[in-house]
This record gives sequence, C-alpha cells and structure tokens, in this order.
Amino acid sequence: TVKLPLAGKKVVVTAGPTLERIDPVRYISNFSSGKMGYAMAQAAVELGAETILISGPVSLAPPAGVELIRVESAAEMLQAVLDYYSAADYVVKSAAVADYRPKTIHEQKMKKKEGETSLELERTTDILKTLGEMKTTQRLVGFAAETTDALTYGKGKLESKNLDWIIVNDVTDPAGGFGSDENVVTLISRSGIEILFPAMEKKELAKQLLTTIVQEGTDSL
Ligand code: PMT
Repeated sequence: TVKLPLAGKKVVVTAGPTLERIDPVRYISNFSSGKMGYAMAQAAVELGAETILISGPVSLAPPAGVELIRVESAAEMLQAVLDYYSAADYVVKSAAVADYRPKTIHEQKMKKKEGETSLELERTTDILKTLGEMKTTQRLVGFAAETTDALTYGKGKLESKNLDWIIVNDVTDPAGGFGSDENVVTLISRSGIEILFPAMEKKELAKQLLTTIVQEGTDSL
C-alpha cells in the first residue's frame, strides 16, 4: 500500500461567505458559493488528511469524510477556526470573510422611512492575520480575491498575514472566481515559488494546489 501524502495530518479548511446580520430579515454577504473551499476539503480527504471543513452558509453537500462545522458570521468562523488551530497541520482559508459588519444588529425589523438612510459598519477580525500572529508549526494557506494588480496585492497579503502560501485569484477573469465551476489562480510561496494554474475545474485545481503545497512544503520552506 502507498502512504497518502497527508496521512496522519490534520487539515482545517474554511469555505463559503460569511453572513452578517442587520436585523431579523436582512444581512450583508458576498457571492462566494463555497465551491473552491469544498473542493479544497475534498482534495485534503483524498490526500489522506483528517479534514475539518468550517463553512459559511452555502447550498453544497459536504464532501464525504469531512467533519463539517457550520457557521454564519465572521465572529463565529473565527471562534471555530481557533478551536481547531493548535492541533492543525495545515489551515486553508478559502472562505470569503466579511471585512465589515453592521455595528448594531437590530432586534426588530428596521422600518423604512422617507428618504435616504445609511448603515454604520465596523471591522470584523481578520481571521487569517490572527492565525498568522499565533502561528507555531502550522502551515497557513490563504486565498486572495483581487480585481486589480492581483499578484502585487496577493504578495502583500502573504507577507502581512505571515502566510506560507497564497492562492491568488483575479476575480474579474471570466474563467474563474466567485460562483463558477472553474478557476484560474497563481500559487505563491513565501520562499519565492510562483506557479500559474490555467483554467480548470475547481475540484481538479484543488487537488493540484494541495499536492504542490504538501510536496514543496516538506523540503523547501
Ligand atoms: O466560493 P466560490 O464561489 O468557489 O469562490 C471562490 C473564492 C473566489 C471565494 C475563493 O477562491 C477566494 O478567493 N477566497 C478568498 C476570498 C477573500 O476573502 O479574499 P480576501 O483577499 O478578501 O482575503 C484574503 C484572505 O484573508 C482570505 O484567505 C480570507 O479567508 C482571509 N480573511 C479575510 C478577511 C477576514 N476578516 N478574515 C480572513 O481570514
């Protein structure tokens, strides 16, 4: 029998959007479908890892073999990730976490009034940055969703969040990004590796990305 590359390893994957409540009937969110993150979790299982999938609200069935933790908001996702962080070998942050949430969650439905209104927003905690600051032996893999200068901004996030790897998507590329079955990304490591993965199904892409990360991770970082 062949030993799978992630046998005996724990991988935590986050996926999907977060949902930030405004009142009992309204929220702020984004267009993440969870497909990329669910594909990363499936790839981790196939490579032999014990896989924890922490998912925002999506309509996908979880891949067989994962432990699924459902969360709603950025705050809940942070708590769930922290619960599993110290035991994790890899954390893969595919989720599109809200950067802002309403400053107050109204208990009753907000009534409409004449004229304009505005919503006061406050920052959420940057989960990945928090993990980067706490990092001991974990390998941290982030994603970056950019609409301009994708590689430059992606490399900035790799440094500022103390990541080992970042997977950069230019979400304006018609071949990939939010919601689609395919994606096109560049994988960048702290050690200077930079690999462009052409457009392909997210499931196949996830497998190639994780395989590369695990292989390179053992010798060159
Ligand atoms: O779900 P799909 O429809 O398949 O789409 C896939 C995807 C485009 C959502 C995915 O490939 C992707 O790029 N995910 C990351 C989206 C994102 O939030 O990127 P960002 O550049 O805003 O954030 C950078 C990194 O910091 C991400 O790993 C993110 O999870 C993390 N982050 C961001 C904000 C925050 N408060 N906490 C975080 O941990």
